[in-house]
Amino acid sequence: MQVDLKGRSFLTLKDFTPEEIEYLIQLSADVKDKKKKGIPVNNYQGKNVALIFEKTSTRTRCSFEVAAHDMGMGVTYLDPQGSQIGKKESIADTARVLGRMYDGIEYRGFEQSIVEELAKYAGIPVWNGLTNEYHPTQMLADMLTIREHLGHLKGVKLTYMGDARYNMGNSLMIVCTKLGMHFTACTSKEYFPAPELVELCNKYAEESGGSVTLTEDVLSGTKDADVVYTDVWVSMGEPEEVWEERIKMLKPYQVNKAAMANAKPDALFMHCLPAFHDLKTKIGRQVYEKFGLSELEVTDEVFESEQSVVFDEAENRMHTIKAVMMATLGL
Ligand code: CP
Ligand code: NVA
Repeated sequence: MQVDLKGRSFLTLKDFTPEEIEYLIQLSADVKDKKKKGIPVNNYQGKNVALIFEKTSTRTRCSFEVAAHDMGMGVTYLDPQGSQIGKKESIADTARVLGRMYDGIEYRGFEQSIVEELAKYAGIPVWNGLTNEYHPTQMLADMLTIREHLGHLKGVKLTYMGDARYNMGNSLMIVCTKLGMHFTACTSKEYFPAPELVELCNKYAEESGGSVTLTEDVLSGTKDADVVYTDVWVSMGEPEEVWEERIKMLKPYQVNKAAMANAKPDALFMHCLPAFHDLKTKIGRQVYEKFGLSELEVTDEVFESEQSVVFDEAENRMHTIKAVMMATLGL
C-alpha cells in the first residue's frame, strides 16, 4: 500500500504504523543521498514554516532551518521568550493565528498536551521538536543511523541506560518495538518507563517480533547489545535540585568502557546530544564542583571512541526532519 502522510502532524510515533515509519526512514535516506550529490529538493517555494522553541536547541532548530532553506521555504524562529504563546495568548489561539499564515509549525517545549492542542487547532501539520514525553524526530535520525551502520533494524538489541521515563527512553521504546527491535531499559527501577507505556509497547512488540526488557542489572542489560544509548541525567526544564538524586541513582548506569566491553564487540554508542562527557561545559563544571564527577552519563573515552556515532545522529537530524516536512506538506 502506498504511504501518504500529506496533512498529517508528527507528534509521537505511537500515531504511525511500522510501514509509515520505515517509509520516513527511507525517504530520509533518499534526501540525504540527493543532498550529497547536490541534487536539489527545492520545490517548496512559497511555503513558510514557524518554529516555536519554548526550550533551547542547537540540533533541532538548525535541522529545521537548514532543511527548510534547502527546500526553498521561508522560516520564522520564535525563541523561548519571543512570542505571546502561553503567556498572553492561549495555545489554541496561537495555533489558529499561525495556521492562517504558515504551512507547518514545529513545537519544542513542555507537556505533550501542548503540542497535541496546537495540532488540534492549527489546521496545518504540526511537528514535535521535543516535549517532556517524546522526541519523535530524534527517533528517525537514530534509526537511520543504526541502519547505515548495521545494515538493518529488525532484531537489533538497543540498550538504553539512564532516565528511561522521559522523552528519550519513551520514544526509543516505542520506535524499537514498532520496528521489531529488542529494547532494554537498563537503569534503576525508579527510572523505568511508565507501566502503561510498557504495556502498549509490549503489544507493538508482539506484532513486530521485538521485545521490551526492564532491568537494573548492568551485566545482563548490556550483554550482547548492538547499540548502547544514553542521554543526559537531568533534562531541560527540570530543577537543579534533582542532580544529587540522579547522580546517586544513575551513576552505576554510566556508559563506560566496561559497559561497552560487555556489549557486542562492534556495538554502537549513541546519544541524542548534548552530552556531559568532559568539563568543557558550564553545567558540567558546576556539577564537577558540587559532586566531584568529571564525566556524567558517558565517559569521554566512550564518547570519543570509534564505536561512537553521535555526530552521524546529529547530521541525520537534518535529513530526517526534511523528510518529515516533505511527507506531511506533500511530496
Ligand atoms: N538532540 C537534540 O534534540 O538536540 P538539541 O537540543 O540541540 O535540539
Ligand atoms: N532528555 C533531554 C533530551 C535532549 C535532546 C532533554 O529533554 O533535555
